[in-house]
Amino acid sequence: MSLSTQHLLGIRDLTKEDISLFLQTAEQFKEVLQRPVKKVPSLRDVTIVNLFFENSTRTRISFELAEKRLSADTINFAASGSSVSKGETLLDTVNNILSMKVDMVVMRHSASGAPHFLAKHIPAAIVNAGDGINEHPTQALLDALSIKEKTGKLEGARIAIIGDIMHSRVAQSNIYLLKKMGAEVTVCGPPTLIPKYIHEALGVNVSYNLKETLEWCDVANVLRIQLERQNQVLFSSLREYNLSYGISRKLLDDLHKEIVIMHPGPINRGVELDSDVADSKQSIILQQVENGVAVRMAVLYLLAGKTPVSNN
Ligand code: CP
Repeated sequence: MSLSTQHLLGIRDLTKEDISLFLQTAEQFKEVLQRPVKKVPSLRDVTIVNLFFENSTRTRISFELAEKRLSADTINFAASGSSVSKGETLLDTVNNILSMKVDMVVMRHSASGAPHFLAKHIPAAIVNAGDGINEHPTQALLDALSIKEKTGKLEGARIAIIGDIMHSRVAQSNIYLLKKMGAEVTVCGPPTLIPKYIHEALGVNVSYNLKETLEWCDVANVLRIQLERQNQVLFSSLREYNLSYGISRKLLDDLHKEIVIMHPGPINRGVELDSDVADSKQSIILQQVENGVAVRMAVLYLLAGKTPVSNN
């Protein structure tokens, strides 16, 4: 089994078999990460640059950790403090870095399509670590691994994605992945934060009723309100948003079943998620972060052209 692609630009481009291979390989790397010695020599001959043109905590650190666990050589680049501030273009920046013999590029950028542009112009393998409001493929893979671990399945699982769907690359990548793997998906939030034709375009159910959505789902993936990407007022106040679409303890206690709570982070506590929910036993938010390392090890390992792992 091998991947159908040489880059990971988005989930939209992947086959069901690619997704299964990423998840199976991540499960094997999770086993490696339980060992006393968590490091393997798999990418000893590979140099990776992490290009972060936009802020990140979880994704940047877990890519760096995944690279170290695989014994790759790594270079970390942040746009602030670089020659980007002197007007150097994205392509010039990357070509200069590649001339130092770099094999793979992990990139986060605020412009949707930036990694796709790079993939057309440079010879290295590109991993999209989040591009604008387009896709965040490794987040969707780690979310899928977390759902599978918690519920035992993706096919037939009922997943609600709640909140700012309009500005969310996490929502888009999750929807592509979950639909390809046979899950049922409902997006829920205020009408102003849900794209108009999402049902027709992506085959998801749409609900504006939070309580009904929570009664329906097995898992609620709750998203952050992305104020930094909104250039107009889309709801009256954060307080009002919390009252209508925030997940509170009482709301969960009034349901007729126990559901799993997920969030990609960073959390706006008291807005989309109350603290006594985020920190409860129902929440798998920190397991998602933990799974991020194994998933990113799997992505880098497979894109480096290594054969599927059996006895690492
Ligand atoms: N989930 C996620 O992408 O978090 P960061 O922005 O901190 O990387």
